[in-house]
Amino acid sequence: MTQLERIAAMEQAMLRVQKTVDALCAAPDLTGFPDAVEADIAALEAYYAGADWKRDFADDEAGILPRDLPRGVLSEDGLYHLLETIDELRARLRSQRQEDQGMNEVIQSLKTRRSIRKFKPDLPPKADIAQIVDAGLYAANGRGKQAVITIAVTDKALRDRIASDNCRIGGWPADFDPFYGAPVILIVLADKSCPTGIYDGSLVMGNLMQAAHALGLGSIWIHRAKEEFETDDYKKLLSDLGVEGEWEGVGHCALGYADCDLPSAAPRKDGRVLWVE
Ligand SMILES: Cc1cc2nc3c(=O)[nH]c(=O)nc-3n(C[C@H](O)[C@H](O)[C@H](O)COP(=O)(O)O)c2cc1C
Repeated sequence: MTQLERIAAMEQAMLRVQKTVDALCAAPDLTGFPDAVEADIAALEAYYAGADWKRDFADDEAGILPRDLPRGVLSEDGLYHLLETIDELRARLRSQRQEDQGMNEVIQSLKTRRSIRKFKPDLPPKADIAQIVDAGLYAANGRGKQAVITIAVTDKALRDRIASDNCRIGGWPADFDPFYGAPVILIVLADKSCPTGIYDGSLVMGNLMQAAHALGLGSIWIHRAKEEFETDDYKKLLSDLGVEGEWEGVGHCALGYADCDLPSAAPRKDGRVLWVE
């Protein structure tokens, strides 16, 4: 093969690879490079790493090559950047493949849970609700005190009363449902005498939302449980349920079947992870 034939062949290979790289960048769910493109990449890598590219580049710089020869492959950064992009894409495809194969299933579930703001009125099976509440009981808790309780409300009258009180506390118009139609409200409360109660309760809330997601149910943290349980009405609700002591409302986990597609996560803000290595 002559020098000009080699440059022309590498130029063609580069164009084919670039086309695939562009497609992969635009459609991140593609599974990988087709075999023919892998062969082009291997040829380009060998060309760039060996003596040929350096010689061709030097000859081009010296003006020896024909002016009309297509020679993007000899531009100083072109091939370098393309091969670098390929390395990045390979890393992305690898981690995507791991997820697709069901590896790190728990982490995937952690990352795909989203707050749901439109629920169907149908009540999920009690066994599912119980499983979710049970998952909450296993959250980490300060000094192992287990000083958090959960009230599972499926009674429609009480659910509607809580929604109406929550709406009033939030200052919305009376016809707004702050629970977005969810038929179940899991109220998490922390023992006021426990110094880590609110932290512990927040972890319970996290478990509830994640467990709901794992079972294919929608959920969302709805606030203002603190204000509710500062009122006599809600203190009476606790005593009617036989709960003694002083309790602070941490949050409500609204629960039910989503009446919408699972929302995508907002892009994560930069600069929130700092490494000290
Ligand atoms: C402490 C806390 C309080 C929240 N309170 C409410 C609420 O009262 N109403 C609501 O619609 N969403 C509420 N959310 C949901 C957040 O708006 C939601 O988590 C956030 O927008 C991120 O979305 P994601 O959960 O889908 O990742 C609350 C979340 C947390 C953690």
